[in-house]
Amino acid sequence: MATVTYDKATRVYPGTEKPAVDQLDIAIEDGEFLVLVGPSGCGKSTSLRMLAGLEDVNGGAIRIGDRDVTHLPPKDRDIAMVFQNYALYPHMTVADNMGFALKIAGVNKSEIRQKVEDAAKILDLTEYLSRKPKALSGGQRQRVAMGRAIVREPQVFLMDEPLSNLDAKLRVQTRTQIAGLQRRLGITTVYVTHDQVEAMTMGDRVAVLKDGLLQQVDSPRNMYDRPNNLFVAGFIGSPAMNLVEVPITDGGVKFGNSVVPVSREALAAAADKGDRTVTVGVRPEHFDIADGEGGGEGAAKSLSKESKDAPAGLAVTVNVVEELGADGYVYGTTDVGGADKKDLVVRVNGRRVPEKGSVLHVVPRPGELHVFSTSTGERLAD
Ligand SMILES: Nc1ncnc2c1ncn2[C@@H]1O[C@H](COP(=O)(O)OP(=O)(O)O)[C@@H](O)[C@H]1O
Ligand SMILES: [Mg+2]
Repeated sequence: MATVTYDKATRVYPGTEKPAVDQLDIAIEDGEFLVLVGPSGCGKSTSLRMLAGLEDVNGGAIRIGDRDVTHLPPKDRDIAMVFQNYALYPHMTVADNMGFALKIAGVNKSEIRQKVEDAAKILDLTEYLSRKPKALSGGQRQRVAMGRAIVREPQVFLMDEPLSNLDAKLRVQTRTQIAGLQRRLGITTVYVTHDQVEAMTMGDRVAVLKDGLLQQVDSPRNMYDRPNNLFVAGFIGSPAMNLVEVPITDGGVKFGNSVVPVSREALAAAADKGDRTVTVGVRPEHFDIADGEGGGEGAAKSLSKESKDAPAGLAVTVNVVEELGADGYVYGTTDVGGADKKDLVVRVNGRRVPEKGSVLHVVPRPGELHVFSTSTGERLAD
């Protein structure tokens, strides 16, 4: 077991100007499960391959424990990698596939057999050891690929989208299995995915990348509750956080015909940048519904300062209702005062969903508001 440190690690591919990974700084703890997540092309695989030694590092360093591995060949790094396509040898049995790296390393036959059998037991593969990969299901092949990494007892596991070839249901099962297995074995793991749900459910911590730049490294809880910037705010969470540019007024922001209080610090920080608006983020579950059908968690406080007649809050016209059983999601449009209508997603009680075409009045719950600088995208105060 070991820590893993990316120390301003940079990769510039030959013939390109812009780094694919730009001064990546992450200190991964011994035994930690760290997930690298971000949209396609953001540099996840490059980051992992740099750690594996499959990609040159053009600046900075990478350390495993105290060892500087920046320029070591892959075989000297004591890591094992699981790829998206599993890369099993089709002509070999499951047992031979799992033991292959040990055989190459000159480990004796009985020891290989013991390690393969132990791993097979953990992975529920014992009865398949003499089969060829083509006679296995996708999920079983995935476990063989895991087994091949486990038998090597490496200091670090590296996994690049290992679940993306599985169907949705199996993916959910397997992610629980992998996370459980990792915790049991306690081997430091760097796991790459483009799927933020996978990242949030599996990782001890999650690192979000965009355009080769690290945006935030945090626990799933903090990532959700305190996203550092607009990108992370929009990327983490499904349905995504609603992000609305609103004018700053006295003591808060103007949200339709309501004034929603915002911390003094946040408003001062926006004013310092010369901004007259801030971009407010509200998760779909953080609206109070002020009237009518589909009432969420109790009546909203009226924050209206301008109108005594109209219900407080933003009038949202319901376009689509997605009923998921326990919850419903309202996809609607609203007028926030700008030139354009704004799309909003609001979570409602699944047993009391509003009708299409009806109008809901919603108010963001003040304590649950995220405030970002419109000009820089960064989070303002708390
Ligand atoms: N061998 C390569 N040569 C040049 N550019 C590459 C190479 N591999 C990847 N890239 C570029 O580097 C960026 C990051 O790629 P990658 O790490 O594969 O992203 P991800 O795994 O997050 O989808 C992308 O813009 C991609 O086009
Ligand atoms: Mg990739």
